[in-house]
Amino acid sequence: MQTLVFSTNNKHKLEEVQALVGDKFQLMTLEEIGCFDDIPETGITFEANASQKSHYIYERFQLNCFSDDSGLEVDVLNKEPGVFSAHYSGSRDSEENLQLVLKKMEGKEERSARFRCVISLILNGQEHFFEGSVEGEITQIKGGSAGFGYDPIFKPAGYDRTFSEMSSEEKNNISHRGIAIQKMVEFLNSVTKD
Ligand code: IMP
Repeated sequence: MQTLVFSTNNKHKLEEVQALVGDKFQLMTLEEIGCFDDIPETGITFEANASQKSHYIYERFQLNCFSDDSGLEVDVLNKEPGVFSAHYSGSRDSEENLQLVLKKMEGKEERSARFRCVISLILNGQEHFFEGSVEGEITQIKGGSAGFGYDPIFKPAGYDRTFSEMSSEEKNNISHRGIAIQKMVEFLNSVTKD
C-alpha cells in the first residue's frame, strides 16, 4: 500500500476520503507526517491555492500528496466570496460570512451560484488537477442547520432543500468536493495496478 498525504488535519474529512480511495493508498494527515506549519494560501484562484499547498508539502517531505481548495461563487457578486469564502466578512465565523452574502443579495432576483472544488495531486513529481462543481442558488433565508459554511443558504439545482437540510451522504453524492474526489479516485485507480 502506498502513502498519500492529504493536506488537512480534519480527521472527519480524511476518513470520508479514505473510504472513497479504498485500500490501495493509505492517507495521512499533515500532523501524521509532522507538518505543523501554517501553509500559505495566497493565490487568487482555487487552482493556485490547491497547487501552492501541494507543492509546499512535496518540496519539504518528498511525499505524494493532494490538496483541495473550495468555495462559493455567486454570479451577481462577481463570483465572490470565491477564494475568500472562509473569511469573507473578515472573520472565520460561518454565520457572519453567510449573513454578509444574504445582505449583499437583498432585493436581488438573480441568485445563481455554485460551489467549486479544485484538487491538486502531486504523484511521483507530476501534478494533476481535478475539479468538481455543483450549480444552485442562494436562498432568501437560512434553511437547516447541518453541515458547515454556506450550506444553510445554498440550494442545489433540482432540489427543494438546502445542503443543510440534506444528510451528509446525500450532499457528498452531488457536492463539488465529492465530485472532484471521485475524479481523483478514478485517476488513481487507472494508474495503479492491483
Ligand atoms: P475549503 O477550501 O474546503 O477549506 O473551503 C473554504 C471555505 O469555503 C469554507 O470555509 C466554507 O466557507 C466554504 N465551503 C467550501 N465547501 C463548502 C461546502 O461544502 N459547504 C459550505 N461551505 C463550503
